[in-house]
This record gives sequence, C-alpha cells and structure tokens, in this order.
Amino acid sequence: MKIQETITMNNGLQIPVLGVGLWQVKKEDASRVVKQGIDVGYRHIDDAAAYRNEEEAGEGLRLSGIEREKIFVTTKIPAEYKSYEKAKKSIDESLERLGLEYLDLILIHAPRPWPLMFTNLNYDKKNVEVYKAMEDALKEGKVKSIGVSNFSEHDIDNILANCDVVPAVNQICVFAGNTPKDLIDYCKAKNIVVEAYSPLGTGKVMKNDALAGMAAKYGVSVPQLAIAYTLQLGCVSLPKTTHKEYLVANAKVDFEISPEDMEALLNLGIRQKAL
Ligand SMILES: NC(=O)c1ccc[n+]([C@@H]2O[C@H](COP(=O)([O-])OP(=O)(O)OC[C@H]3O[C@@H](n4cnc5c(N)ncnc54)[C@H](OP(=O)(O)O)[C@@H]3O)[C@@H](O)[C@H]2O)c1
Repeated sequence: MKIQETITMNNGLQIPVLGVGLWQVKKEDASRVVKQGIDVGYRHIDDAAAYRNEEEAGEGLRLSGIEREKIFVTTKIPAEYKSYEKAKKSIDESLERLGLEYLDLILIHAPRPWPLMFTNLNYDKKNVEVYKAMEDALKEGKVKSIGVSNFSEHDIDNILANCDVVPAVNQICVFAGNTPKDLIDYCKAKNIVVEAYSPLGTGKVMKNDALAGMAAKYGVSVPQLAIAYTLQLGCVSLPKTTHKEYLVANAKVDFEISPEDMEALLNLGIRQKAL
C-alpha cells in the first residue's frame, strides 16, 4: 500500500510518500484532521508556522497516541524570516507549539517573502543565513532533516555553493496540469527529493474534463488519479483535505498509470505561476 511506502532521502532517512497537508486547515479542524489522518494510516504531516495551526496539529499527534518515531513531522520557517536569528527562533517556537522534542524536517518556506516571491529580488545571502540556522539545528538534534520549498534551480545552486548540507527535499507545486519537469529532473540529479504540494491544484484538477475522462478509464476518482500521477513522477505527495472520507480515498492510489497517459498528464496545462 502506498500509504506505507517511503523514499530514502540523501541523508539516509526515510520520508513517507503520502502526507497530510495542513495549509488552510482551520485551527478548529487541525487536531481532528491530524488524528484522523493517523487513524487512516498516514505517517506524515506537512505543517508550517505560517499555517497557524501547529499547536492544534501537535494536539492531534498526541490524541492519536502514535509513537513519536513512527510519525514524520515537517514544518517551515516563514518566507518573511530572512535572518539567522529569526530562523533559529522560528524553529524553537515551532517545536514549542507542536510540543515536540525534534522535527523530522524543517524547510525554508520560500526563497523570498511572499509579496516578492515572483520578483527577481536577490535573497541569496539571506537564504544562506536561514539555511545556516537550520544546519545548526541539525547539529543540535532539533531537526533530523533540512530542506527548501519553492526553490528554483538558482536558489538551490546558491545553497549548494555556500552551505554544507545538501537539502533533503525541495517542496514545490506539482499537479497534473502544472508539472515543472526541468526543476523536478534537476532536483533528482542533485539527489534532492521533490515533494509535490497542491497535488490537486488546490481544487483545480477536479474541474478538468481531460482528467475526468482519464480517471473514469482507470475506475478511480480525479483526485486519486492526480495523486497517483505525482507519486508516479517519483515525488512525495501532500494532498490536503478536511474530510475523513477524502483522507481514506486519497490513500487508495495503488494503480499504475500507463506511460502514454503519464505523458499526456505531463503535457496537460492548467495556468500556474512558474518558479
Ligand atoms: N510549500 C508551500 O509553499 C505550499 C503551498 C501550498 C500547499 N502546500 C502543502 O500542500 C498541501 C496541499 O496543497 P493545497 O492545500 O493547495 O491543496 P490540494 O491538496 O491540491 O487540494 C485541496 C482541495 O482539494 C479538496 N479535496 C481533497 N481531496 C479530495 C477528494 N478526495 N475529493 C474531492 N475534493 C478533495 C480539498 O477539499 P476539503 O479540504 O474541503 O476536503 C481542498 O479543497 C497543503 O496543505 C500544504 O501542506 C505547501
């Protein structure tokens, strides 16, 4: 079953291929979603300081009764925090809010603050500072793995050239209709796992007729086809839902998409900003 599968990262640690996404999960739902996800069999939670539900996610972890070492917890340093000190503080505060002794993975949420994300402003030096704080957290045992999110080839090259630890992952937007193939191939070549965020295009895939036709052919739902597509690309997949029945359905992705259909999905275009 896919829900039990893992990928080995470049540091030798395992990351479960399916995770429970927590963006836009309200505080009042987050504890329940995390607990239900774990009850269903998920072993990976994708959170971020910016999602403002870390405390509730931590509560869900404790309510589930899962042993700490059996669950993979990711959180992210806000895109706006671009100094060593702010990054260090952010990691400590996330640990505190989640109520954990260590994080499995910490990411730089984005290479530039969100309002500047799609500009050419250069944050290379600042990203190195933030990354150094993550490297120190790694040495101190506060985190097991470190990585990046929304990083382009240039942003990754900057880290590789100026830091010691190769990022374990790059978490980027990947869905059927938006496949940044060059960036995925680049990450693979550098032994960096790609995590597909918004694998359902934040709902866009459900409105696509081509996907509906293909899903019917496989006897699956569009979300199942879309999640399976990201997994078959070799990515970790992080769908988000607040519904228990969707948590269950989204984990039923044990089917093979044909090479022809993979190619068609790769070339499907649904508008999305490029990194
Ligand atoms: N690093 C980053 O910058 C970044 C950015 C975006 C997202 N992410 C991560 O990726 C996760 C997922 O991305 P996303 O939140 O954009 O959304 P997504 O997973 O692409 O899509 C979520 C939407 O699909 C619906 N849905 C889920 N499963 C369904 C099903 N089986 N049938 C019908 N509808 C279904 C959800 O509805 P309900 O919620 O109503 O159930 C929600 O409206 C986030 O939660 C976050 O962890 C990271």
